[in-house]
Amino acid sequence: MNGMYVKALIMKRFALFVGAVCASVAMLAQPTLKIETQDAGIPVQKTMYGLFFEDINYAADGGLYAELVKNRSFEFDNPLMGWTTFGNVQVRDDGPFERCPHYVRIGYAGHPVMFSGIENEGFFGMGIEEGKQYRFSVWARTAPFGKKGKPAAKEFVTFHLCDDDTMGENQMFFDEVIEVEGKEWKRYEVVFTAPRTVSDATLRIYLETWSEDESVEYRKDCCVDLEHISLFPVDTYNNDENGLRADIAQALAELKPGVLRFPGGCIVEGTTLEQRYQWKNSVGPVENRPVNMNRWNYTFAERQFPDYYQSYGLGFYEFFRFAEEIGAEALPVISCGMACQFQNDPNDKPHAALKELQPYIDDALDLIEFANGPATSKWGKVRADMGHPAPFNLHYLAVGNEQWGDDFIEHLKPFVEQIRAKYPDIKLIGSSGPYSGGEWFNDLWPQMRELGCDLVDEHFYSSETFFENNATRYDNYPREGTKVFAGEYACHGADGKKFNHFNAALVESAFMTGLERNADVVYMATYAPLLAHIQGWQWRPDLVWFDNTRVMRSCSYYVQQLYSVNKGDYVLPAKVDGKPLTGQQQLYASAVRQGDEIIVKITNLSKYSQPLNIEFDGLQGAVTGGTLTTLYSSDAMAENTLDEPDKVIPVTKAVDMARCQNPQDYWQKGWYRNDQGNRVLKTSVAGSTFSVFKFKVR
Ligand code: AHR
Repeated sequence: MNGMYVKALIMKRFALFVGAVCASVAMLAQPTLKIETQDAGIPVQKTMYGLFFEDINYAADGGLYAELVKNRSFEFDNPLMGWTTFGNVQVRDDGPFERCPHYVRIGYAGHPVMFSGIENEGFFGMGIEEGKQYRFSVWARTAPFGKKGKPAAKEFVTFHLCDDDTMGENQMFFDEVIEVEGKEWKRYEVVFTAPRTVSDATLRIYLETWSEDESVEYRKDCCVDLEHISLFPVDTYNNDENGLRADIAQALAELKPGVLRFPGGCIVEGTTLEQRYQWKNSVGPVENRPVNMNRWNYTFAERQFPDYYQSYGLGFYEFFRFAEEIGAEALPVISCGMACQFQNDPNDKPHAALKELQPYIDDALDLIEFANGPATSKWGKVRADMGHPAPFNLHYLAVGNEQWGDDFIEHLKPFVEQIRAKYPDIKLIGSSGPYSGGEWFNDLWPQMRELGCDLVDEHFYSSETFFENNATRYDNYPREGTKVFAGEYACHGADGKKFNHFNAALVESAFMTGLERNADVVYMATYAPLLAHIQGWQWRPDLVWFDNTRVMRSCSYYVQQLYSVNKGDYVLPAKVDGKPLTGQQQLYASAVRQGDEIIVKITNLSKYSQPLNIEFDGLQGAVTGGTLTTLYSSDAMAENTLDEPDKVIPVTKAVDMARCQNPQDYWQKGWYRNDQGNRVLKTSVAGSTFSVFKFKVR
């Protein structure tokens, strides 16, 4: 081969190599995300990123509500559901609580060595934890028949906590005896410290008797009546009486929610109107709150839970109290007089006739009085008697859940008129139906505006593609008038991937950049549903999972939390080439100012790390430090579980504050000033990652 030829060949190869390098650099051109640091145009609403609470998946009884006894008042349709009886036990219905009249009578078992009693299975068992205190309480009285002239006899109620699965000598791991005295109903209680952790304990209660002459004869007449049997942890959230399970409530509080929507969801509507959630049944003494069959009891034939009822132990007072404790705006949703439209044929006339709507509207007006009225008002007094004389400062009320059609408008109108007339400051929330688009949605939105609703509730349980494509959803919504409450949303992975896998959370984070950027349109957003018992769920994915002793925060939980704790005071426009990042190169971004921090959220849906410059346009002072928090998993299908709750969690590290020696170097990282004198951070965003940069600025 001659030298000239070799040289030409080398030159050609070099040219090809340089060309290839240039092409790949051009392909991966480092975009610059310019943050307009001086723009204070759009405030972020205090209500942003909240909680949607519905009693689905045993979220209330068996979940957030700390009561461990199921059917404590014997008021389920089968009064002994959840209970096993042994010996001589009768159910009676002339008890001391008018709206919960059932109780049990436990009498002599037929022989002195035999027992009569009852045993409660709890909610998938009872979670008891060693070293923690519990309060057992019961309303009781002795036999109402006289024992005059007979030797004295005494009745005792003994209760045991049992571990039925143990191979140890004793199933019973705690016992205590209470003497029941007198024929009047009285409340008895025992506080004790649990000696052992058992996640599925049972509670056994039985009658023991004693007589002065030690004979059996007089003990045959002995019996006790028992009502409202409760086993409650003493350490509830905030140590509230009739309070919430501390670990679950704590997980919710750590989301720093701006709003707490309650009590649902579909349970607001009811399969029939009688079964709708009636808030008045959920306040006042717990012993007198009537139960209601939960509509998620039978909604899915393949996941039925016949013992799923609402005790209303966690009722409207407790919701308002919790909202106040965690600093969230309370957002009650009430029935508009229409039963669930999915479950009813309109020809069957399942809804309240318009001329019969007044009691439903009164429920709404009375609720506002319950929350805000003086302690001297009828409903304000109910609140005050329950322990909260000061108003709860309710500002928002939603009427109707997933309603649609002309029927809904006709039902909603008189609510709006009467609430506006009496409480003009209350902000009203209407519905856009069950879907995020389509005929019902398109029909309802203009009508909600016309009715003057302050916000409209939108629901979307959708695929990955929906979330990837909808970061721009609110960019073209009208800026004036009615605002958006993204009231129920979650990525339900395509192909049946209905669980809280990492990729679902990642696409949610991409979508949420659009919520943040459009803070002048989207005033509230709540992921749904919120809670699920691992053994009792009907619907998934859900934000927080639990069993009787453990809590797990899903990947989606961390996305919600990263938005919520970094929600900012106002939005800062963040653009690449003059446009928001809404999926170009699979990147999504938004930015806010929060106190002395500039916070930039970036989702990279591609698998690859992508170089990015972050430019601080118009920043007068210095950037004095920064952190980068990332949520990442190499496995798109990874999910946290109760056994491995920390598989996917946010990780925070410091941002390198070094200066870039040579900003032209493609892979170099660090700070430099560009030609406009703006500070620029040359960095990169890792593939399949939700990143939150926080910069301290002066
Ligand atoms: O979040 C579960 C259910 O989804 C809600 O009850 C209902 O509003 C929606 O259809």
